[in-house]
Amino acid sequence: MSLNPKLIRKDFPIFQKNDNLIYFDSAATSQKPIQVIEAVADFYRKFNANVHRGVYRLSVEATEAYEGSRRKVAQFINAANSREVVFVRNTTEALNLVAHSIGINQMKKGGKIVLTMMEHHSNIVPWQLVSKIMNHRIEYIPFDGEGYLDLSVADKILRDADVFSFVHASNVLGTVNDVKLLCRMAHDHGALAVVDAAQSVPHMPVDVRDIGCDFLAFSGHKMLGPTGIGVLYGRYELLDGMEPFMGGGEMIKEVHLDRSVWNDVPWKFEAGTPNIAGAVGLGAAVDYLRGLGMENVRTHEHMLTAKALELLAELKHVKIYGPENPKHRCGLVAFNLGDIHPHDLATYLDNHGICVRAGHHCAMPIHTRLGLSASTRASFFVYNTVEELEIFQEVLKKAVKFFKLA
Ligand code: ALA
Repeated sequence: MSLNPKLIRKDFPIFQKNDNLIYFDSAATSQKPIQVIEAVADFYRKFNANVHRGVYRLSVEATEAYEGSRRKVAQFINAANSREVVFVRNTTEALNLVAHSIGINQMKKGGKIVLTMMEHHSNIVPWQLVSKIMNHRIEYIPFDGEGYLDLSVADKILRDADVFSFVHASNVLGTVNDVKLLCRMAHDHGALAVVDAAQSVPHMPVDVRDIGCDFLAFSGHKMLGPTGIGVLYGRYELLDGMEPFMGGGEMIKEVHLDRSVWNDVPWKFEAGTPNIAGAVGLGAAVDYLRGLGMENVRTHEHMLTAKALELLAELKHVKIYGPENPKHRCGLVAFNLGDIHPHDLATYLDNHGICVRAGHHCAMPIHTRLGLSASTRASFFVYNTVEELEIFQEVLKKAVKFFKLA
């Protein structure tokens, strides 16, 4: 079934306020449908209480809403058990949790962590932090000129690795990696496979059991949900054997003056009052996306990406980054237009009602590898249309004249 973005837009109050708004920055954060906004507001209106603590009816209802969302998320990614879903703030926190708990508490000093050169900072810096403490080595699998991982050197780099952590869909190159293969490679080398799925879970079917990953991280706010809620999926046996990342209320069974006993998985990783309303909103976002069908979401974005690549390629001064084949890309395109600085171009586009991201997109090593300091990025979601892409191309043509590109 093909999606009808014009109908979908009616669910989004931000487009009701400004129907001409061209929002091409969903890779940074998505817009929110009324169903999500109402679910959050309804929680505060009708069920607000703390979870897992009170025996009174309201607290039981709040707990049911919170745990109900956990079940929805687990189903959405086909986890074997909803207890494999840990609520965190975002992808960054999920990756910090894994890096800390595995990198400090489970790996021996001087271990080996393998990443790729197309990682977002959130899948580099947490590993650097633990490596500083534990003296681990970090090695990187490079990517080639078209933005594909160079797997010819992967086996050598993965030798003796303890952890292989990699991005599913690159937030700059757009490359969708063969995560099933990468997980298999990690396991063949005895390493744990950690997947940064921030740019994939919102945009395509993701099945953790089919992928065969050990951990997978994503954010609610990029998938129509609220900010401040994210997910760490982890295989139950692994989560069960891990030490908590943060201590405090809720994550314990017993506290004595000289020791404590941790709560069960996943609650031992959810110290303090969690983002209950955020989790409820994420549950509503999952319902919304399931209603559209993730295959349909992927097909719609593939169509938009192919069209964007085609329209951009018609412009003389454009340099596009990442794979040429839209089938190998997620719904975003990073590019440069001549020597116009991305910040200037983004400001020009904004003056014409088009929101794009400009800069290094929290992925400096990718830009360094491409010999750039910055790029402009347009990213798409279910509410974007071909007509918007055509306007985008027209405005870029005007920019070429405005900035006097030869
Ligand atoms: N990681 C987000 C992006 O790529 C914020 O824009």
